[in-house]
Amino acid sequence: MIEIQQVSKWYGDFRVLTGCTTTIRKGEVVVVCGPSGSGKSTLIKCVNALEPFQKGIIKVDGVSVGDPKIDLNALRARVGMVFQHFELFPHLSIEQNLSLAQRKVLKRSASQARDKSLALLERVGMQAHAHKYPSQLSGGQQQRVAIARALAMDPIAMLFDEPTSALDPEMVTEVLDVMVSLARDGMTMMCVTHEMGFARKVANRVIFMDGGSIVEDCAKEEFFGNTAARSDRAQQFLSKILQH
Ligand SMILES: Nc1ncnc2c1ncn2[C@@H]1O[C@H](COP(=O)(O)OP(=O)(O)OP(=O)(O)O)[C@@H](O)[C@H]1O
Ligand SMILES: [Mg+2]
Repeated sequence: MIEIQQVSKWYGDFRVLTGCTTTIRKGEVVVVCGPSGSGKSTLIKCVNALEPFQKGIIKVDGVSVGDPKIDLNALRARVGMVFQHFELFPHLSIEQNLSLAQRKVLKRSASQARDKSLALLERVGMQAHAHKYPSQLSGGQQQRVAIARALAMDPIAMLFDEPTSALDPEMVTEVLDVMVSLARDGMTMMCVTHEMGFARKVANRVIFMDGGSIVEDCAKEEFFGNTAARSDRAQQFLSKILQH
């Protein structure tokens, strides 16, 4: 579903990604972790063309993301993205936040879009808040809305960039629960997160990045089970985050 082959990227002289290669198959859940500045956000932003890259190939469902001829709106509708900050439109109600792109990009009618929005809000436990505005919701609630908004486009895969790291601890679980249920429903997911409980529960694979490279890419059981086989850098990192 997502093929990343030898992708390298520079910001000016600074090489931010070096020869990154991995494949995410349909229905797979892959957790990406690694120290700050290792290139995790950059890599997933390359997948839905939010960032250009200079070398290598990324294909989503067979379509080459770097191809200047592709329809970026269509690509981004097919690959949902959820960020640390929810980026909901403050002047639109929750239901309108979900319906807008369905109408503009997918050309759904007002009633089709609304029905879909309400069904998805129900799925993330937010149906009672459809008429409210983002500022009236907690961070965890806003993030669940952001997930529903991405799902409203019927994506074939979902990318998450630290969706819980800006949330108060008591709100992390409600967002992770939604992500776990998505994973169990078979969604293809690439998630940058340090929530190792989530990784243990639903990930198929764990990718560890350091200094712009994919240093580890292995099955979850291998990643957590055989820590002695991990690179020194991954071991160091794991020992730090697993203390929490
Ligand atoms: N627009 C930019 N211009 C120049 N350098 C950038 C830019 N965006 C990111 N970088 C650099 O690229 C590197 C990778 O950044 P990236 O945000 O991908 O890391 P990350 O692994 O997501 O880190 P974090 O865990 O802190 O989110 C960092 O050294 C960062 O400073
Ligand atoms: Mg990041």
